[in-house]
Amino acid sequence: KSHSVWVSRPLFPEVLAHLAEYVDVRVETTERKHTPSELREKLADVDGAIVALSDRIDGDVIAGNRRLRVVSNLAVGYNNFDVPALTAAGILATNTPDVLNETTADYAWALLLAAARRVSSAERWLRAGHWRGSMRFDDWLGVDVHGKTLGILGMGRIGQAIARRGYGFGMPVLYHNRSRLPEDIERECRATWVQKAELLRRADHLMLVLPYNAQNHHAVGAAELALMKPTAVLVNIARGGIIDDAALAVALREGRLAAAGLDVFEGEPVVHPALRECENAVLSPHIASASADTRRAMAQLAADNLLAALGYGPNAGHPPSLLNPQVRGRA
Ligand code: GLV
Ligand code: GLV
Repeated sequence: KSHSVWVSRPLFPEVLAHLAEYVDVRVETTERKHTPSELREKLADVDGAIVALSDRIDGDVIAGNRRLRVVSNLAVGYNNFDVPALTAAGILATNTPDVLNETTADYAWALLLAAARRVSSAERWLRAGHWRGSMRFDDWLGVDVHGKTLGILGMGRIGQAIARRGYGFGMPVLYHNRSRLPEDIERECRATWVQKAELLRRADHLMLVLPYNAQNHHAVGAAELALMKPTAVLVNIARGGIIDDAALAVALREGRLAAAGLDVFEGEPVVHPALRECENAVLSPHIASASADTRRAMAQLAADNLLAALGYGPNAGHPPSLLNPQVRGRA
């Protein structure tokens, strides 16, 4: 085979077998974060790579690399890529959009419902053996979800999938996005655009679905949290760093927010110790897209992107989800 590829972590065997029909495949057998120097070394003598969010692919890692033609991300978000640096080096970059929209939207609702109704802490209490005798009638009171106003900050395809589910819960939907959605999509999602401050003030519960970039760093910090209702639940399935986790822990502890459902954290896998202390936070390890069907579809799309970039398969020369099409002429 004339091309070699590196896969930075174990992947579904059937996806690896599909890759191996076309190219030589080297797969890491353990799941771990690679240092920049390890990445530089692994990428030095391959034509393509499938990497994950914890692998940071920047100008240093690819400096002087004359062989690498494509880096395929196992995620829709690609803040682990320095796309301009890849483009400048003539390296194609791809991600996995769309296949995860509905699964990720389901999970945002799972976190909202679990946090609002205290599912995690009630389960911890039960497992600890505290459920004896009779229970106070006014114990374990949560906040309602149905009929409340749902706020969505960041209204891409996942935000829209979340919004459509709001109808089933009888929830009016407000959203804020830099650009307004076309009217037909607003109608279909039954969602109304408002300014960010108005969204924070009026939402009974708020979901964050923003991409992470320098402008969105701490998009929800102490000042934004102060605008929210004390009965509100805040959900983040987007990226760590969008919320100021230290400020959120203070708001949760002081009861200035009812609860939070968080799948992503600043500096994950490390989670702010103050957040881990908050009983009213439901915390999960970045698994919003992790259904069996969807993770398999993401891996398959990442493989298809990589193979297409190297000139194989039905999409040869045209990776289905290319982030830097301006490179194509040079590849
Ligand atoms: C997961 O966080 C993704 O971006 O796919
Ligand atoms: C969440 O688990 C809560 O107790 O509010």
